[in-house]
Amino acid sequence: MKPLRIGLIGYGFMGRTHSNAFSQVNNFFDLQHRPVLKAICARDAGKAKAFAAKWGYESIETDWRRLIERDDIDVIDVAAPNNVHAEIAIAAAKAGKAILCEKPLALNGPEAEKMVAAVTKAKVPNMVWYNYRRVPAITFAKQLIDEGRLGRIFHYRAKFLQDWTINADLPQGGAGLWRLDVKVAGSGVTGDLLAHCIDTALWLNGTIDTVTATTETFIKQRKHALTGKMEKVGIDDASLFLARFSNGSLATFESTRYARGHKALNTFEINGENGSLAWDLHDLHRLQVFDYKDEGNVRGWKSVHITDGEHPYMKNWWVPGLQIGYAETFVHQVADFIKGLETGKMASPTFKDGLATDYVTDSVLKSAKTGRWEKVKKVK
Ligand SMILES: NC(=O)c1ccc[n+]([C@@H]2O[C@H](COP(=O)([O-])OP(=O)(O)OC[C@H]3O[C@@H](n4cnc5c(N)ncnc54)[C@H](O)[C@@H]3O)[C@@H](O)[C@H]2O)c1
Repeated sequence: MKPLRIGLIGYGFMGRTHSNAFSQVNNFFDLQHRPVLKAICARDAGKAKAFAAKWGYESIETDWRRLIERDDIDVIDVAAPNNVHAEIAIAAAKAGKAILCEKPLALNGPEAEKMVAAVTKAKVPNMVWYNYRRVPAITFAKQLIDEGRLGRIFHYRAKFLQDWTINADLPQGGAGLWRLDVKVAGSGVTGDLLAHCIDTALWLNGTIDTVTATTETFIKQRKHALTGKMEKVGIDDASLFLARFSNGSLATFESTRYARGHKALNTFEINGENGSLAWDLHDLHRLQVFDYKDEGNVRGWKSVHITDGEHPYMKNWWVPGLQIGYAETFVHQVADFIKGLETGKMASPTFKDGLATDYVTDSVLKSAKTGRWEKVKKVK
């Protein structure tokens, strides 16, 4: 088995999910490459060493530039906040590294365009960690839609609701709270939570032509954790938009961090002339299916347990009826990335797919300012 030497940047939430996936992938998927945890990079040497010891990284770096210079690294994995994705990925592409980058790809479309240009010029493998595509129930939904089982699509409906920023005393900025600092995050829930919903929607239902949006920042000022001063809050706390897809269907998207009681209510529903599908992260191993072709007297919504060997990815896990969860979506993504390297057919979502989502979020934020319907730029 050939080694695939990983250099990870960032040891937070995503640093852990990625490390877990690199370690597990060969236990469940037959591949010709084995990820080798070569180096973890983070600015705090002590914390990086502790992470390396816990997760099995061979070495540490405290500057991502040093990591990229190393010739014993094949893949740069960017699991740091949004404001550093572009600089790191562009440098990694120039150094000829394969790149895995967390979402959203960049702070905005123009920045993401530069990342796409860099990986295209360098011809390096690239992927964005929109991991929900690898929830077996969502992959299965994609298969059913592509088979034409729903017929003409009329509606798409997505939500991603949380409640963790309601407290006005919560500071913005710094470790853990960078998502509230617009300079680091780029935007609020639009680029953070809705980006996931948009990536899934574009994958399942094709491109979006136009959007009209409204956003709100409920808490206007927060203390900045790094400066200690009260500062204006620049992120959107809630974001709602309507969209018209190129296939003629209409959509609603809603996201907020102010839906008391919801930790991560991520859902979608899609309605076609012959059937509908619905999914909910809280029950991620189930797909709700309505098939109008079923016999009339037994027609109704079915809750399909996506745990059979015939379902996407599931034959690689346990026996039918036993479910998997969130962490495994990252294992699937690593497996598909490696298969892409081995077959020469790059797995999606690529940086170009990440750019498509950034174009939608740009138009959503623009529409929230102008109050008008805005066109969504298409990826060339
Ligand atoms: N795919 C998903 O479902 C998902 C979920 C959460 C976060 N994310 C994305 O993953 C990225 C990281 O989010 P997180 O939740 O892991 O954040 P986190 O705050 O838990 O971790 C961020 C890590 O990056 C490190 N870091 C920050 N600046 C750095 C720099 N200049 N050089 C090196 N390391 C640096 C921090 O020390 C920390 O270890 C973000 O882009 C976020 O949007 C994706």
